[in-house]
Amino acid sequence: MFRNAAAIYLHLVGPLQGKKSGASLTRCLHQTLTMAKQLQARRLDRIDYNPWVEFAKLASEEADVVNLGQGFPDFSPPEFAVEAFQHAVSGDFMLNQYTKAFGYPPLTKILASFFGKLLGQEIDPLKNVLVTVGAYGALFTAFQALVDEGDEVIIIEPFFDCYEPMTLMAGGRPVFVSLKPSPTQKGEPDSSSNWQLDPTELASKFTSRTKAFILNTPNNPLGKVFSREELELVASLCQQHDVVCITDEVYQWLVFDGFQHISIASLPGMWERTLTIGSAGKTFSVTGWKVGWVLGPDSLMKHLRTVHQNSIYSCATQGQAAVAQSFEREQVHFGQPSSYFVQFPQYIQRCRDHMIQSLQSVGLRPVIPQGSYFLITDISDFKNKMPDLPGAADEPYDRRFVKWMIKNKGLVAIPVSIFFSVPHQKFFDHYIRFCFVKDESTLRAMDQKLQKWKAELTP
Ligand SMILES: Cc1ncc(COP(=O)(O)O)c(C=O)c1O
Repeated sequence: MFRNAAAIYLHLVGPLQGKKSGASLTRCLHQTLTMAKQLQARRLDRIDYNPWVEFAKLASEEADVVNLGQGFPDFSPPEFAVEAFQHAVSGDFMLNQYTKAFGYPPLTKILASFFGKLLGQEIDPLKNVLVTVGAYGALFTAFQALVDEGDEVIIIEPFFDCYEPMTLMAGGRPVFVSLKPSPTQKGEPDSSSNWQLDPTELASKFTSRTKAFILNTPNNPLGKVFSREELELVASLCQQHDVVCITDEVYQWLVFDGFQHISIASLPGMWERTLTIGSAGKTFSVTGWKVGWVLGPDSLMKHLRTVHQNSIYSCATQGQAAVAQSFEREQVHFGQPSSYFVQFPQYIQRCRDHMIQSLQSVGLRPVIPQGSYFLITDISDFKNKMPDLPGAADEPYDRRFVKWMIKNKGLVAIPVSIFFSVPHQKFFDHYIRFCFVKDESTLRAMDQKLQKWKAELTP
């Protein structure tokens, strides 16, 4: 297969051994494998374009940019979490070894007791909890375990962009239903709570082939926190049509303005048909640890365990130990002012408000998010004033706008159309997403960029 393996070896290893590699050897590295057979597995058809790669590359090409695109905190995690990790690394040497396949026992135990109380369920750490490589791992395991060829999966738009490819990779058919904004009073800022599903349209998406419903509350990218009434409607449709609900609740602790996060699994009749997904990354501001979990009834979880034990098998032990200790600490402080789950959203709400005011100063119109790491902002005024930004004719306006903004204004955001299915992108190409879970110094750097932008706007 690798006819030039020796040349490649020389090129890669030669420099390490102090040998020179010639230009012809360099060319060898770039040869493309061609096969008479189709090379890529068919399950990758239609999913090979990834906008994150494109926008991360653009951001890295500019020298002086403030990156408010990707969703991660650029400040230190809480001290107790860092200490827990240090303890895991320097303490018991057995934490350097494999742990139980479905989760490090102290972690599955604390997740069971912590979430058992919140969901009103007796949760068995061995049967109802699975620890995964981040919430991404949890989602992938759930799709692989439950979605079959031809199954329909209902996805609410705008959606965390991996739900569609994960459905397709499992052989399923994504069925989209959009949240739509209702008109606001003139001059009033829009809120994510104004974005709603049409109950008749939602009901029309359920068919005899519907296998799963994907819920994400608080939602990425909009920041919508689904209300009890909205969740009750979803719950009754799932029950009526015998559908499994996969609920992604990674931002559950980041809810603002007195809104309340409700887990759909806590509604009557929903535990037995719901998989609830969480992320230590988003919970304790440690996205690099990549510890996630799924909670659910054994009848569903046993299939996820089959996927897990035949793919990942077990996750990094030390990260799990640190997350277990962090949850144990939170359980003691739960509901008190000393709790991270109380302090963190208060701090982040101030970051959100800071960003809203700054964006408004240049004529952007943020949609106030009720929760999550993100807000989306309306750019229709710019679309009207400068419709002809460079880019391909069929490229959605928001993508062209973000490229223009990165280059000319030094600010990185993410176009919101990527969170919609292709046929619906043209209706939502006038929003861009910013992440506000950023250090004060980053927000101040953003202010400087926006002040410069504002000065350029003033005649
Ligand atoms: C809605 C949502 N779900 C899941 C994830 C993935 O979480 P993790 O980093 O734990 O894999 C993210 C990350 O951005 C997200 O926004």
